[in-house]
Amino acid sequence: MENHKPFLVLLFFAFALGFIAVVFVLRWVLHFREGLAWDGGAKEFNWHPLLAVTGFIFLQGIAIVVYRLPWTWKCSKLMMKFIHAGLNVLAFILAVISLVAVFDFHNVQNIPNMYSLHSWVGLAAVILFTLQIVLGVCIFLLPVTPGYVRAAFMPIHIFSGLFIFTTVIATALMGITEKLIFGLKDPKYRDSPPEATFVNVLGLLITMFGALVLWVSTRPYWKRPSEQLLQALHTSDSAAGSTKTVITNSESPDPEPNSEARRRNGKAEE
Ligand code: HEM
Ligand code: HEM
Repeated sequence: MENHKPFLVLLFFAFALGFIAVVFVLRWVLHFREGLAWDGGAKEFNWHPLLAVTGFIFLQGIAIVVYRLPWTWKCSKLMMKFIHAGLNVLAFILAVISLVAVFDFHNVQNIPNMYSLHSWVGLAAVILFTLQIVLGVCIFLLPVTPGYVRAAFMPIHIFSGLFIFTTVIATALMGITEKLIFGLKDPKYRDSPPEATFVNVLGLLITMFGALVLWVSTRPYWKRPSEQLLQALHTSDSAAGSTKTVITNSESPDPEPNSEARRRNGKAEE
């Protein structure tokens, strides 16, 4: 475990930044804006950024790194799949409620729907996320799916997951900018009132959270070891000592020793 220090440090910072971002968005809507309610007015709109950041960004980020947490390697792969899929489904539910809030607000206030780039990219991200969940469940959870299909789909799943996550972060930054431009009248956004500075910092927090999640989830040497390897370690008498040796090897900065991890991607990690 001590060989995972850099991973754990980055993970801690990622979690802290994500959590602070959620606190910031909560303070934004409660302190600087009107608060929260389901009344067709500004308070209803405020659910949109709150749930988008909490669910679609923070929870999705955690779902992405969950396989890599060393203390979960004792759990079965099936259990981890349920946790990964469950967190993503939760993120999806919060994202959908956040969309219902903003569409309902627009309809009540007679504001046109889907006119902005933010809304186009955001809706596309939600549709892709839905597809990712459906395909993820069908391919990685249904026992009838053959191993070679899982193996072939894995690189696509990982790429599209990271692409969706990045797109959602870009969407949030656009939405934040729009809201500051629309919402700040006197003083205006360009006059840098305290709310503008506070929310700019929120945007930075979200960006740094995204960067850390992407970094942590794309290092081959921090991947969950293959099931064969974990099983071998489990059954080995000298489990503790040998775990350290193998994990140390797989942390080498040299990309070659990590070919095991990469090979595993092609080897149906069902
Ligand atoms: C509107 C998606 C985050 C601010 C919308 C709409 C969609 C959307 C589809 C169109 C609603 C309609 O036309 O009735 C998303 C997604 C997000 C996200 C997927 C995930 C991160 C945010 C955040 C803010 C925000 C963090 C910050 C306040 C707005 C604003 C509108 C809006 C001001 C109304 C103006 C417009 O339609 O562009 N959003 N949003 N959004 N969103 Fe977001
Ligand atoms: C791995 C994203 C839904 C099964 C991954 C990875 C990402 C990702 C980025 C790479 C993680 C890593 O390399 O450590 C997503 C997103 C989803 C989603 C954004 C929702 C929209 C699902 C679902 C399942 C699933 C529903 C079904 C069980 C897997 C499996 C892996 C994986 C088996 C391989 C983990 C490993 O390398 O050991 N996912 N995923 N995913 N995902 Fe998903």
